[in-house]
Amino acid sequence: MASELTRRRFLGTAGTVAAAGAGTTAALAADSAETAPPEPIKIIGICGSPRKAKTTATALKICLEAARQVADNVEVELIELAGMKIPGSPAAGIPLEDGEKDDFPKLVPKLSDPKVGGIIVGTPVYFGDMTALCKAFLDRCITLRKDNFALSNKVGGVVAVGAARNGGQELTIASVQAVLFCHEMLLVGDGRPTSHRGATLWSGCPGGIEKDEFGISTAKNLGRRVAEVALRTHAAKES
Ligand SMILES: Cc1cc2nc3c(=O)[nH]c(=O)nc-3n(C[C@H](O)[C@H](O)[C@H](O)COP(=O)(O)O)c2cc1C
Repeated sequence: MASELTRRRFLGTAGTVAAAGAGTTAALAADSAETAPPEPIKIIGICGSPRKAKTTATALKICLEAARQVADNVEVELIELAGMKIPGSPAAGIPLEDGEKDDFPKLVPKLSDPKVGGIIVGTPVYFGDMTALCKAFLDRCITLRKDNFALSNKVGGVVAVGAARNGGQELTIASVQAVLFCHEMLLVGDGRPTSHRGATLWSGCPGGIEKDEFGISTAKNLGRRVAEVALRTHAAKES
C-alpha cells in the first residue's frame, strides 16, 4: 500500500511537471519523490488498565502488530498507563497538591507529535465503562484540545476487554469514542470482515484471551484499519 501511495504521489507530481512544461530540474524533483523512502508514521497504543502487561496490553499488542505489518514505514509504540500517576483534577484547573506526582505532562509531546498518525486507546471494561485511569488520562487530554486541537485528524480506534463475552465492551468503546470525537479525531472501527465498532475482547475465554479467536480478529482488523486510514490521511497532507 505504501508503494501504491508513493506512486500516486509521483504520478501527481509528474503530471504537474508536464503541464508546466518544466525541464530537467522539475523532472529530477519528480524522480527523487519516487525514490525517497516514504516518511514514517507512528501508531500509538494507550493501555488504560491499572494492571501492567495484562489482558488489555495483550490486546493492544495484537492491534499494534497488525498495524505495523501494513507498511514498512508504520512504527508502533505501546504506552501503558499502569504505574503512572495521572490525577484527573488538573483537567479542571485544580492545582496539584504539594509533592503530588503527575506523569501526564511527559505524555503530551508523544501524543501531539505530527508523526503520530493514529492512536488506539485500550481499556478494560469496568462496570460497563472505561477504567478510572483511562478516564483521568482522557480528561487530561483536554490540554491537547486547548492547544490548537493537537489530535485533530489523527485516526482513533478503541479496544475494550471484558471478563464476560458480552460484558459491556461496545458500551465502553462508545464511551471512549465520545471523547475522541471532541478532539476532531477520525474514528474508525475494526475493518473487514468483522467491521463493527472496534476491538472487543473476552479475557474470561476458556484458555485465556489468546484463545478468544473472534476478539483477536477484531483486534487485528482494528490495528490494520487504523494504519491504513492513517497512511491515507498522511499522504493526503503531504500532497
Ligand atoms: C472494578 C471492576 C469492574 C469490572 N467490570 C466488568 C464489566 O462490567 N464487564 C466485564 O466483562 N468485565 C468486568 N471486569 C473485568 C475486567 O474487565 C477484565 O478482567 C479485564 O480483562 C481486565 O483487564 P486487564 O487484564 O488489562 O487489567 C471488571 C473488573 C473490575 C476490577
